[in-house]
Amino acid sequence: MRIALIGAGRIGAVHARSVAASPDTELVLVADPVDGAAERLASAYGAAATTDVGDVFADDAVDAVVVGSPTAYHVEQIVAAVEAGKAVLVEKPVDLDLGRADRCLAQVGDRADRVMLGFNRRFDAALAEIHRRAGAGEIGDIEQLTIISRDPAPPPVEYLAASGGIFRDMTIHDLDMARFFLGDIVAVQTVPQRLDPAFAKTDDFDAAVVTLTAASGAVATIINSRHCAAGYDQRLEAFGPRGALRVENHTATSVVLDAAGSSGARGPYLDFFLARYADAYASELAAFVAAVRDGAAPSPSLLDGRQALALADAATESARTGRSVAPAPVPAPSAVV
Ligand SMILES: NC(=O)c1ccc[n+]([C@@H]2O[C@H](COP(=O)([O-])OP(=O)(O)OC[C@H]3O[C@@H](n4cnc5c(N)ncnc54)[C@H](O)[C@@H]3O)[C@@H](O)[C@H]2O)c1
Repeated sequence: MRIALIGAGRIGAVHARSVAASPDTELVLVADPVDGAAERLASAYGAAATTDVGDVFADDAVDAVVVGSPTAYHVEQIVAAVEAGKAVLVEKPVDLDLGRADRCLAQVGDRADRVMLGFNRRFDAALAEIHRRAGAGEIGDIEQLTIISRDPAPPPVEYLAASGGIFRDMTIHDLDMARFFLGDIVAVQTVPQRLDPAFAKTDDFDAAVVTLTAASGAVATIINSRHCAAGYDQRLEAFGPRGALRVENHTATSVVLDAAGSSGARGPYLDFFLARYADAYASELAAFVAAVRDGAAPSPSLLDGRQALALADAATESARTGRSVAPAPVPAPSAVV
């Protein structure tokens, strides 16, 4: 499969590496409007480069597109790609505005089954194993899901200003995890925190506890923080009547040091998402390629992206009002303007 990459930044570099490493895919074109950005990445893999993103949609040699541009461009690039007959793997979030996401779904229509959302955590080996084993009934129906997700340090202020807030930027991964494990969510309750003085002058939060009630009655608790002294803190537990399945933090080595000053020391957690989820990004690409090759609808879908955004909106509203909020349902296509 001949793949073009749109956006040659941080996540673009990850996808370029996965595309180049897979025997099933070839990186043929990299597009980025910033002078030299596409060229720098493309040259490492022998791909062509352009500063005109339109070249991707016009190129008949491109079968599929990976969109790793800033979030504000995702919707227009999804629509342009499917209209040009290309399959799309697009980074999260689909957009920061639910109305725009709904319009995108309506515009894409049946061709939504050519679009996959980059919720990479679904492809992490440990999380996928818990999902599979819980789905096979090993612990009974999940009653409680606990997700701890803390970043090592907050991003720069300029990034935060355009991020859409903690729930649309960071929690959205965990909101998708909650849907992945529990299905439809009917209520969202947030307890937000502003712990870092840098957030005092913003209307954003730097930590939060979000509880989600699923249609099944199960409850998910998401614990987020923009800082964590110990590093990138990624843990999940699925609890059911017959037991619990749990993944702890990954460290670079499984060797443990017992010494005079400490015991059970393993070294720090893996650095951040690029290290912790490196394999997941590659597995995500493989799942996308397999779905497109087999003519199957890729998962997670564009609708999954929209639903996670609706939960992020609900979490934001709950943080501001203190009330429990139901996520906005998908409007009928005729009601989308
Ligand atoms: N799944 C994940 O774990 C994950 C991790 C990081 C980022 N992301 C998502 O990926 C997207 C990009 O984030 P990033 O951290 O790589 O950002 P980045 O700023 O590092 O890179 C963005 C790149 O896009 C380019 N760009 C700017 N305008 C563009 C346009 N109109 N069309 C194409 N390219 C354009 C920029 O020049 C830059 O090279 C965001 O939507 C973000 O939420 C996802």
